[in-house]
Amino acid sequence: MTIQANTYWQTIANRARMQGRPFFSMAPMEAVTDTIFRRVVAQAGQPDVYYTEFTNASSMVHPKAKFSVQGRLAVAPGEQQPVAQIWGSRPVDIAAASRLLPAMGYEAVDINMGCPDGTVIKNSAGSDLIRHPYLAQDIIAAAKQSGLPVSVKTRLGFYKPAEFRTWLPYILQQDVAVLTVHLRTRKEMSKVPAHYELIDEILAMRDRLAPNTLIQVNGDIKDRQAGLDLAAKHPGIDGIMIGRGVLENPYAFNPQTDGHSLAESVALLRLQLDLFDEVNATVTPKNFEALKRYFKIYLRGFAHASNLRQALMETHSTQEVREQLWQSGLIKNQRSA
Ligand SMILES: Cc1cc2nc3c(=O)[nH]c(=O)nc-3n(C[C@H](O)[C@H](O)[C@H](O)COP(=O)(O)O)c2cc1C
Repeated sequence: MTIQANTYWQTIANRARMQGRPFFSMAPMEAVTDTIFRRVVAQAGQPDVYYTEFTNASSMVHPKAKFSVQGRLAVAPGEQQPVAQIWGSRPVDIAAASRLLPAMGYEAVDINMGCPDGTVIKNSAGSDLIRHPYLAQDIIAAAKQSGLPVSVKTRLGFYKPAEFRTWLPYILQQDVAVLTVHLRTRKEMSKVPAHYELIDEILAMRDRLAPNTLIQVNGDIKDRQAGLDLAAKHPGIDGIMIGRGVLENPYAFNPQTDGHSLAESVALLRLQLDLFDEVNATVTPKNFEALKRYFKIYLRGFAHASNLRQALMETHSTQEVREQLWQSGLIKNQRSA
């Protein structure tokens, strides 16, 4: 590991340790963790680390395709710099893509070795790398050429959880800065509970093979308190990664997870509308329909808002959403905030 590698992640881990807790990360999520939603979550309750959506390395370095992925790596001025998550199966492209990242402001790169999607697997990438561990090692070595600290996010195995005993050592031998384990196999997708019972064995393996590598666990951890409880049961966990929990509750990282008012939730929705317009106008075209998944997130738990939620589902633009919020008396004017 380079000195730089130690510095970036160790600073994050040490700051959390000094507060007697693991560090918290918002999981990389395709079509979710763009600059818009990351900034909304920062407002609701900040994790220590953010990740971008996964971005294809070969597209990043292809003269024509690079424009199609640039929105994924966009970071707003003043926004906390996320970790760039990239995926691919060509070490030469991984090296070239990783080398672009420092000039874009990135301080760390994460390699996706867990995606279960059929198209990604057909490209011999994502979780398919579990079946090709030497290629996985070459990819890590390629990413290190950037000089950035390299981390890996993967699953326990492709078919069976017990594969972690042979698979994870390949990664740990590469001395990565962080190993994030989504505690399920590719085959299990998200259909079975995460295998927390394997955490202690993974930690012991890390202590034996790569004591400098930080271990971050992921899967079914719904909020900060659940993460603290899990870390208390398994001393040695360095980081907790939360994905869908944030889609259930935008305050998942906030020490005060519950008890937020409808007005506070609507303020988050309004921020998201404004940021959507900003990014749509300046960075990359955004699909309005994709915004609708968030309406239920912000209005969940407010029974009296069910009519409003229905009305929002029938809107066609951010301005129509603001008009509905205004008609419901939830905002004082229809302009962007
Ligand atoms: C909508 C969605 C998109 C995702 N996209 C990515 C991705 O781009 N990269 C990645 O490594 N994992 C991705 N994942 C997996 C999550 O990062 C995480 O590993 C998984 O959801 C399990 O954690 P959770 O139970 O906290 O949600 C995605 C998950 C969801 C639900």
